[in-house]
Amino acid sequence: MLTSFWNWYVIVITIFTILASLWLLRWTKNAGNQDDGDGSTGHVWDEDLVELNNPLPRWWLQLFYITIIFAFVYFALYGGLGNLGGYLGWSQEGQYDAEMQTAIEAQEAVFSRYRQMDNEALMADAEANATGQRLYANSCAMCHGSDARGAKGFPNLADDDWLYGDSFDAVMHSIVKGRVGVMPVMVGGLDDGAIGDLVVYVQSLSGQKADAQLAANGKKNYDMLCVACHQADGSGNKTTGRR
Ligand code: HEC
Ligand code: HEC
Repeated sequence: MLTSFWNWYVIVITIFTILASLWLLRWTKNAGNQDDGDGSTGHVWDEDLVELNNPLPRWWLQLFYITIIFAFVYFALYGGLGNLGGYLGWSQEGQYDAEMQTAIEAQEAVFSRYRQMDNEALMADAEANATGQRLYANSCAMCHGSDARGAKGFPNLADDDWLYGDSFDAVMHSIVKGRVGVMPVMVGGLDDGAIGDLVVYVQSLSGQKADAQLAANGKKNYDMLCVACHQADGSGNKTTGRR
């Protein structure tokens, strides 16, 4: 909301600027001021270049007058002098609201159909899948990849291995409520050697080549500290997204 001070501030500056332009036009039109008597200003460059003192062409001046008339016609139609509204009732808020309304109606036409469908029908619907694909490209691809295969730290959504489960509801939860997988430091009491053994054991769980003796040492601590969340075979726990 403009206080009346800022309202008048805008009106006065606007009108003053237009009137000042008008005055400037008339003043410069009066070109005789600096005449040296021979139709030039007396400035000479490069031996023989002379600056003449001709008035602006009439058609050119008239263009300026037209812009001034245009300004007042514009104010009358669209507003712009402080809080004074225009004859057409236009405002940027009004235009914004109207455009939003059009956009909402256009979206509603698409989404009202989806809203009436159950999950099964939605998953089978080609148009809904195409909409989902565009939404995915816009909002998800930067983390999960355009092919949904993920990256380090960002789970692969295109394979059969799910942190939180693959049901409609589990995926819906992941998207709508978000997921925060956090692992506390679990090796506080262990020395470096024991932690190294633990790493070797974890690597062996996924079938990597590992020293059997070191892995066996690591297993003891794994079974004590890690199974609760990662399971004995390292397969994780879908209720909490542990891997
Ligand atoms: C800022 C990066 C980022 C963006 C953007 C993002 N995700 Fe994720 N998403 C993650 C991370 C990280 C996880 C793993 C969270 C965890 O381990 O708790 C995840 C997990 C998921 C999961 C669970 C995967 C599983 O195996 O259970 C799904 C499903 C998912 N995201 C879908 C989406 C969709 C759909 C979008 C777009 C609307 C999206 N994500 C946008 C980073 C992102
Ligand atoms: C309280 C539950 C909990 C315990 C206990 C726990 N972890 Fe985790 N761990 C998690 C969670 C949750 C994640 C995923 C973290 C993320 O997404 O940022 C994780 C991630 C990991 C990862 C990375 C997996 C990957 O795919 O890159 C490794 C390795 C790991 N844990 C090993 C261990 C070891 C070894 C122990 C025992 C010393 C252990 N964790 C104990 C919850 C746990």
